[in-house]
Amino acid sequence: MTQRQRWGTRIGLILAMAGNAVGLGNFLRFPVQAAKHGGGAFMIPYFISFLLLGIPLMWVEWSIGRYGGVRGHGTSPGIFSLLWKNKFAKYLGIIGVAGPLAIVIYYAYIESWTLAYAIFSLFGKIPKVTNFQGVGFEEILKPFEGFLTGFTGTGKFFIKPSLFAYLFFVITILINIWVIARGVAKGIEAIAKVAMPMLFIFAVILVVRIFTLGSPVHPDSNALKGLSFLWEPDFSKLLDLNVWLSAAGQIFFTLSIGMGAIMVYASYLREEDDIALSGLATASTNEFAEVVLGASIAIPAAVIFFGYQNAEKIAQAGAFNLAFVSMPAVLSYIPLGNIFGFLWFGLLFFAGITSSLALTQPAMAFLEDEFKIPRKKAAILIGIFIFLSAHIPIFISGALDELDFWMGTFFITLFAGTELIIFFWVFNPKKAWKEINKGADIKVPKFFYYVIRYVTPLIILAIFLGWFIQSGWKNIISGSPGKWIARAYIIMLLSLLAGLVYIAFRRKKE
Ligand code: ALA
Repeated sequence: MTQRQRWGTRIGLILAMAGNAVGLGNFLRFPVQAAKHGGGAFMIPYFISFLLLGIPLMWVEWSIGRYGGVRGHGTSPGIFSLLWKNKFAKYLGIIGVAGPLAIVIYYAYIESWTLAYAIFSLFGKIPKVTNFQGVGFEEILKPFEGFLTGFTGTGKFFIKPSLFAYLFFVITILINIWVIARGVAKGIEAIAKVAMPMLFIFAVILVVRIFTLGSPVHPDSNALKGLSFLWEPDFSKLLDLNVWLSAAGQIFFTLSIGMGAIMVYASYLREEDDIALSGLATASTNEFAEVVLGASIAIPAAVIFFGYQNAEKIAQAGAFNLAFVSMPAVLSYIPLGNIFGFLWFGLLFFAGITSSLALTQPAMAFLEDEFKIPRKKAAILIGIFIFLSAHIPIFISGALDELDFWMGTFFITLFAGTELIIFFWVFNPKKAWKEINKGADIKVPKFFYYVIRYVTPLIILAIFLGWFIQSGWKNIISGSPGKWIARAYIIMLLSLLAGLVYIAFRRKKE
């Protein structure tokens, strides 16, 4: 058996894992979710989800990843069949490869916008606001909305993106594939060692800038008002099931759990490497980037410049609006706006790329481990596949949202539940617990054993049912052509993976 790749250093591993988790979700998805779902009150289900879903699943994914990696398998088809000696186990694992691949085809496209906008900002190519007073906020934002739609394109069915959008997408894919082709230590880890510190530096500079702006537009709108906008609890929201589902969904998305991405990174650990402390360090770094930094940039900026009421509307308009419409408007107005714009989009790009690499790695590991395809060749194959697949969300209206709906909610919850049941029920709960504690630098409280075995699976089941009742079934029966194309793509991808799993494992038997 050929030697599997390994992480170079412990700090490199933690940075890569943190990069895996810290992504666009922290700076765009989180503030919008919190603002929409009760502000401070949202943090109650959010922290409960972190404790009962996030941390347990983080440990579970690290453990199964390491368990599989030392036995030659970095992805779930191989790992599940090690944990469960049943011929269906490997087919359950296909979600752990197809899922992240389907996410990365639209995630990388959005990441490419951040790269484009970083360059546009630096060269002053984004519209500018000259006056915030006496002008309606819709009017201020109009040129920025126009700029965004001019860039990405719009259309009822067929979207015609700008040449720049297409070009930056190609560049983004090439960068990703180049890094992936260099391997785990020389590619992913090396990039994380640069991108993660830069990300934190950019974020801190932006937070300091936002908090020293004072009240440049409305006398009573300042950064502290922005924080109270986000954190003022509206406890009545706790009665809404949707708030609980969104909090759990955010925890999954932001920690990259249920995606197969943490598992594959953990598969490059050594048998005795610590999991307990490293997993916790990854989760805590992510939470700092999300709750402290992510909450203190775009939303407070919107409150300062557009006022409390309008910030509400901006948050409701969603994450893209916050990133590419209201933030550029604000940054174009302040001194050295071009530089701050560059820092904002640079921050998003670093957050994005360290996550898109993680989402690409399961497909890479699958080809390397199960088909013994050399790394560079595998990277090129996956690059071509992602590039071609991404034409669906780029050119077809509604496809991106539909892919996100299924992949970002349905499949990650399903996958999280499956891995947990296989590890803590089918494999052997005692042995699974031992795996988590093997080589551990801290002692994991026994309390978590019961949480992982009983509480977490029950919560996942409840989320699944709740999701289906609240929105899942409605989405399943509704359909525009773009949605159907996205669904057909997902089915095609799952079938392709099932076929590949069949071939790979039949070859092994022979
Ligand atoms: N965890 C990644 C993010 O937050 C996917 O964007």
